[in-house]
Amino acid sequence: MSIQHNKKYKRHTVTAALPYANGPIHVGHLAGVYVPADIYVRYLRLKGEDVIYICGSDEHGVPITIKARQEGVSPQQIVDKYHELIKVSFMEFGISFDVYSRTSDPVHHETAAGVFRTMYEKGAFVEKDSEQYYDEENRQFLADRYITGICPHCSYEKAYGDQCENCGTSLSPTDLINPRSMLSGNKPVLKKTRHWYLPLDEHEPMLRKWILESHKHDWKPNVYGQCKSWIDQGLQPRAVTRDLDWGVKLPLENTEGKVLYVWFDAPIGYISATREWGETHGKDWEKYWKDPESKLVHFIGKDNIVFHCIIFPVMLHAEGSYILPENVPANEFLNLEGDKISTSRNWAVWLHEYLQDFPGKQDVLRYVLCAAAPETKDNYFTLKDFQARNNNELLAIFGNFVNRTLVLTHKYFDGCVPKAGQLMDADREALESLAGFPGIIGKNIEQYRFREALAQMMNLARLGNRYLTEAEPWKVFKENPARVQTVLNTCLQLCAGMALLAEPFLPFTAKKLQAMLNLEARAWDQAGKQELLGPGHRVNKAELLFEKIEDVQIRAQVDKLLETRKNNNQGQSAPPVKPPVSFDAFSAMDIRVATILEAEKVPKTKKLMKIRVDSGLDRRTVVSGIAEYFEPEALVGKKVLLLANLEPRKIKGIESHGMLLMAENNEGALTFVIPEERFENGSPIS
Ligand code: MF3
Ligand code: ZN
Repeated sequence: MSIQHNKKYKRHTVTAALPYANGPIHVGHLAGVYVPADIYVRYLRLKGEDVIYICGSDEHGVPITIKARQEGVSPQQIVDKYHELIKVSFMEFGISFDVYSRTSDPVHHETAAGVFRTMYEKGAFVEKDSEQYYDEENRQFLADRYITGICPHCSYEKAYGDQCENCGTSLSPTDLINPRSMLSGNKPVLKKTRHWYLPLDEHEPMLRKWILESHKHDWKPNVYGQCKSWIDQGLQPRAVTRDLDWGVKLPLENTEGKVLYVWFDAPIGYISATREWGETHGKDWEKYWKDPESKLVHFIGKDNIVFHCIIFPVMLHAEGSYILPENVPANEFLNLEGDKISTSRNWAVWLHEYLQDFPGKQDVLRYVLCAAAPETKDNYFTLKDFQARNNNELLAIFGNFVNRTLVLTHKYFDGCVPKAGQLMDADREALESLAGFPGIIGKNIEQYRFREALAQMMNLARLGNRYLTEAEPWKVFKENPARVQTVLNTCLQLCAGMALLAEPFLPFTAKKLQAMLNLEARAWDQAGKQELLGPGHRVNKAELLFEKIEDVQIRAQVDKLLETRKNNNQGQSAPPVKPPVSFDAFSAMDIRVATILEAEKVPKTKKLMKIRVDSGLDRRTVVSGIAEYFEPEALVGKKVLLLANLEPRKIKGIESHGMLLMAENNEGALTFVIPEERFENGSPIS
């Protein structure tokens, strides 16, 4: 750990990525960002730290205006609808923001414009005229997603003006081959326009020093790695303004029709939200952003890394009065069953729907999502796992221990905490372990290892169950009631510890348990450090903390997903047949049986795989866009069909000699076209 990491801070500023207000929230959002951040914040509060937890809706950007257009309503109507829905979902799941604001709020417009203005006055921008695409029919410049075309890097046909979702490269509209307006479908024309650029390249020394030197050891490897590769590839000036009418207006003279780029204004939303909170609560908000003794931490998903680690810090630094984040614990992605979560394909478990099907079971979802959080790699949420973790962990371990303890306390001692007598080794060990848990769990949380922290919290419950089972009070009571007093006293202290230490993870359950134990709220460190439930203290009757989730309930969920899949497939029949080709044109193609020898993902791309094949004629390299569908190891030894005489092409610096034949269904899933095993390499296809 670096020295900085151990620095003692006066207060904590914790942000969670502002979700786009153009759709509801699903399990992927919760697992990647909001549950981990909420655990972190709840823990800090229990530690007695001064902490503010900030979020809000991200309400600008082209996807929102496109959606509004499609639905024939105004962008404001779209964001109003989803802002409310999202806000309610967060509340229902106990995501304990101190403030949930929104970027269409006037406070935000003023704050964002103010940051821009200050930077402008300090000469932080480069002003440049350039030719940009324009849709003459709609009289509009085509920023970002308003334009599509062919990706110059991977030839994907539906790349956007800001990014190719196939190879992950970020693009600018003029990079696209054969560009088309999303508005009219027309070929756009070029037209001169003026924009403001943030010269990231000028800040490279600062970024190198701050990230590559100071945070090499305390940032997660995935985050550090992405930053390093960005910096090493050479930073470019980035335009921070757009010709659009939805967004924060540029605070400069004669800039009608120009707004701040959504990724410029959105992170300032964290600051605006803090300011709003300060103003409504009569608090000094500025120190949370300007005092170097405040620890700023951004919780985000991995697709936001460059914005939070490079662009926003450069903005803050150039503005001059703000602190930089101390850490950016970005998570990877959560998949649902076998597939990527997708809003447009409705492939998701939506929070508002979950609560209709599993009312009151917020903590179960929080638990499962934390246990399967994509902390170091993409991970899967499956309904089977959801059921198993509820039934075999929450119910069978946590709930069971609490229930046994309370039932026995009522049975033998009428609901009063018995006084402990002489401690035996087993009692002492249990209590000593309990005393260690706040530290163990806390340390993991402080290091953003939430899965491990949760596992440790459950270990406390496991320990309780084991202790109780071995002590067998039900057998001992007749002969030695004094012994049972000690055992149940110990169990009750363990339950009290659980009631406090579960709070960050399972806030609803912890509250219930505290009420069952008649336990007042206590600080984190008190769990296990003293007798929390003194002799004679009354506890209430046991109520069930968790219920069994039955197979039929899970089956209903699976059916719902299968229905979605069916709907997705309907109406999307096979693509129309292409124009005819001559027999000669077809037979000019040399297709052969080949065997895959090696496969590896191409670094810094999402989709590309570098594959060595034995074609029967030679051994050659083929680059193929299938890395999201297959693990490299699974390909080795596969017999495939190779288009062997395709002109060689350089893709990401690798020369590709041919193409592997694949079938694609209308869900975008891929499969190889596989010849029978007994056909040897080099066999021609005709
Ligand atoms: N709306 C963005 C997304 O969902 C996240 C914005 S985070 C902020 O990917 F920093 F800009 F606020
Ligand atoms: Zn591409």
